[in-house]
Amino acid sequence: MTRYGFIGTGSMGSMLVRKFIGTGLIRPADIIASSKSGVSAQSLAGTTGITVVSSNRAVADHVDVLFLCVKPLQVRQVLGEVRDVLAKDTLLISIAGCVSLENLREWAGDHVHCIRIIPSVTAEQNAGIALVAWGRSVRPEDKKLILSLLNAIGTAVETDEEHFDLFTDLTSCGPALIVSMVQEFAGAAVRTGAVQPELAEYLARETMIGTARILAGDQMTFDEVIRRVATKGGSTEEGVKVLRARLPSTMDEVLLALDAKRRVTSENVAGGK
Ligand SMILES: NC(=O)c1ccc[n+]([C@@H]2O[C@H](COP(=O)([O-])OP(=O)(O)OC[C@H]3O[C@@H](n4cnc5c(N)ncnc54)[C@H](OP(=O)(O)O)[C@@H]3O)[C@@H](O)[C@H]2O)c1
Repeated sequence: MTRYGFIGTGSMGSMLVRKFIGTGLIRPADIIASSKSGVSAQSLAGTTGITVVSSNRAVADHVDVLFLCVKPLQVRQVLGEVRDVLAKDTLLISIAGCVSLENLREWAGDHVHCIRIIPSVTAEQNAGIALVAWGRSVRPEDKKLILSLLNAIGTAVETDEEHFDLFTDLTSCGPALIVSMVQEFAGAAVRTGAVQPELAEYLARETMIGTARILAGDQMTFDEVIRRVATKGGSTEEGVKVLRARLPSTMDEVLLALDAKRRVTSENVAGGK
């Protein structure tokens, strides 16, 4: 029987607990969790039946697989707190951005096997990508276990750390970036004065959902969707031309902004700020 621990039960930690239990691959009785105030962990226990304890050490002391679901700047402190109670061969899985496998190994010790994953909120719908980067010592049976969990709530994509940040932009950051773009699309309609914000959001939202559905399962490629709607000589084609002229530089700027922020956070993580 594998015992699972979760330190941090905020937005992502609680989603992973709920979803893993929902797949039937982990029983509530095999999960023990803690959070800073205990409030989110207690509330999660109320809906799922997991066990909550008041200290991170009590979680780390009892588990084979430990999910660390705290913010990047809290990882070092939490690992310092639990390092000496982590059993040899514990699987340590951090979901924190900006915390490298090397950071994890240094702060947790060589006796544990470190993994980074970047889940996405799309796992709420058993969809989207979870990125995975393996530490050097992770064994094939451990990889199989983690991939089976992640593939039950979406699709796991294994990658090296070098590509982690850029892929994170496309996957985990994606829902907020895509929705922001669609929100601006609806906003433009509102600015014409011809439609109320609620109706514009409803129309754009339903269109986004429908578009996702026709893309699902590789039914249509991006180009096929565009070709089907933006027919030659039609009005949509004119809109697509504007987007193609203006959006590349905006999207380049978006990725540069994400990267700049991440560099500052990574420096603070490494410097223990
Ligand atoms: N949000 C996303 O879409 C997303 C996607 C991929 C990865 N991530 C990563 O996921 C991590 C968590 O993000 P989140 O959005 O879930 O944040 P969040 O909602 O703020 O949750 C953070 C959790 O950490 C707990 N915590 C803070 N300090 C702690 C400590 N010293 N000991 C134990 N628990 C502590 C908090 O406890 P309380 O509940 O008691 O306050 C809370 O449960 C981050 O590292 C982020 O980079 C997020």
